[in-house]
Amino acid sequence: MSTSTEQQSTEAAAFLPSPEFAATARISSMEQYEEMYRESIDSPDTFWAKEANDLSWQEPWSSVLEWNAPDAKWFSGAKVNMAENCLDRHLTSSRKNKAAILWEGEFGEKRTFTYQQLHREVCRFSNALLNEGVQAGDRVLLYMPMIPEAVIAMLACARIGAVHSVVFGGFSVESIVDRLSDCQATYVVTSDGSYRRGKAIPLKANVDEALKSYSGVKKCFVVQRTNTDIEMIDGRDVWWHDVTEAASVHHTAPGFDSEHPLFILYTSGSTGKPKGVLHTTGGYMVGTYSTCKYIFDMNDEDVYWCTADVGWITGHSYICYGPLLNGVTQVMYEGAPNYPDFSRFWKMVEDYSVSIFYTAPTAIRAFIKAGDDLPNAYDLSSLRLLGTVGEPINPEAWLWYHKVIGGGKCPIVDTWWQTETGAIMISPLPGATPTKPGTATRPFFGVDAVILDENGNECPLNTSGKLVVRKPWPSMLRGIYGDPQRFKDTYWSEYEGYYSVGDGAQKDDDKNTWIIGRLDDVLNVSGHRLGTAEIESALVAHSAVAEAAIVGRPHEIKGQAVVGFVILKGDQEAGDELVQELRKHVANLIGALARPDDLYIVAALPKTRSGKIMRRLLKELVATGKVTGNTTTLEDPKVIDDLVAKLQG
Ligand code: WT7
Repeated sequence: MSTSTEQQSTEAAAFLPSPEFAATARISSMEQYEEMYRESIDSPDTFWAKEANDLSWQEPWSSVLEWNAPDAKWFSGAKVNMAENCLDRHLTSSRKNKAAILWEGEFGEKRTFTYQQLHREVCRFSNALLNEGVQAGDRVLLYMPMIPEAVIAMLACARIGAVHSVVFGGFSVESIVDRLSDCQATYVVTSDGSYRRGKAIPLKANVDEALKSYSGVKKCFVVQRTNTDIEMIDGRDVWWHDVTEAASVHHTAPGFDSEHPLFILYTSGSTGKPKGVLHTTGGYMVGTYSTCKYIFDMNDEDVYWCTADVGWITGHSYICYGPLLNGVTQVMYEGAPNYPDFSRFWKMVEDYSVSIFYTAPTAIRAFIKAGDDLPNAYDLSSLRLLGTVGEPINPEAWLWYHKVIGGGKCPIVDTWWQTETGAIMISPLPGATPTKPGTATRPFFGVDAVILDENGNECPLNTSGKLVVRKPWPSMLRGIYGDPQRFKDTYWSEYEGYYSVGDGAQKDDDKNTWIIGRLDDVLNVSGHRLGTAEIESALVAHSAVAEAAIVGRPHEIKGQAVVGFVILKGDQEAGDELVQELRKHVANLIGALARPDDLYIVAALPKTRSGKIMRRLLKELVATGKVTGNTTTLEDPKVIDDLVAKLQG
């Protein structure tokens, strides 16, 4: 493997945390980091017990970790309630009347929930769920906009031991059906619609469609957000406002086993079927708590804002759980970054005096394009710390973020992690770590991340290989829901007993880890994971398509764009109309984010003699317009010439 980051990794100058930042930071020097890191690796039980002791446990654990690869039990024997830790725990301190959530709608309307108010709303909805028959262990599918009720619903599920599975509001009817039936959900929480760039987008109508193909749902709770005219089915559908109004604000949080399932979140893999990543309670709680505390250096005075959607893991760990566990005040925003224009975020940073801001490189690139005048028109001096997540950040974007948004004074934490890891794994500690644009730097406490070659040997510095984690960590996934074999095969089989990440990486002379990108057939589009196989099977499901291949092409804003090649069935007419129809078909089956940017109808695809599509060549072709890579295994070399001609239009 080779990488464009190779030279940067060794040559770029490091940015040091300012003495002012370091002075108040929890971890204020590399010596302190190294010492704590050593302890976390040598004596993980002692280290994690200390972290866990910041939180409340209804009954203590008998062991911190039981590890029987790949099965981990963290804080075994303990009884704990996640929602109690996010809410009730703060009600006996001055945090009781502190804002937990400062919510802003797309149209500028504001709602504030103090910790006490949020607690009341969560108790109400917990009681409403119980009144409608939801029991601990039941799966509840959430298909919601970025409104406070999304967080309230997640916390209420956690509070009563129900397992939430949030499906991003941009996903299609088919995606809802797949997820409902994979986890056998019996309850749904949704809203009539959601706002996106000022337009009402239907959500309940999609749920209605989905429930025509899946009959296991007993009750559907509906929040009224857009006042869209929707159908309420008698006996099945209930309004959130009706059931919560009737419900008590009192609820005593029961203790659940530390390993009680907390949520399932679906993510794309290298096959057509998304994986239901399962997270459990105690370890995930400690992991999200502790990463927020050290990496975001959260304090009682902070106003924190993570711009992710609750439909992704970032919204779970760094909107819903981690910040509330830390008792911080956070901003939550309903809509698009460019509504009404690209200054929206900066206006909100000024309006709420945001001090910690966490977003994705793709958003930063879009802001750069929109021009410096927009952020420059606002007072961003409240910011003290910036973060990024989702994909490698290109140095240009990093430097812009640092200078234009951070005023040259804010450390940037480039946080590497995954849906599966539950919490941040590799990241600078803002008061300690020297940073360089483009590297996530050093592993977090307890994370034993190394880079291995094909033979399982550690790669020398500045040489790329496969990123693996050798030791279990508290917030690690506990399985793929309903598929223990796939769990083993996907993550634990390449290097026996080690977690295979799926990313390529290399370390530089300063021990910084540089993430190169996915090694599997997974694209990263605007920081979201998309399986090429998933899009291919959507295309092949269309009656006109015989065969399809999907590859990623570098894209200025999105990181990667989706490019598709299809071969039609014999009797089909190629034409622009069909191309548009196929693109739309993918959006309908998966969601708009999977819609191919470019789609080529071709006569043949490059294949090996054994019939395997050579995606490597297609990738090179869409990136550079030509193919120079090794084509000796190609069955018919002429195919490439035809494709080159086709792309040149
Ligand atoms: C994949 C995980 C973690 C929340 C968002 C995405 C890529 C993530 C970084 C980063 C380079 C990154 C990796 C990873 N990724 N963060 N800071 N630098 N790459 O979660 O959908 O589970 O995707 O995103 O390729 O494997 P996800």
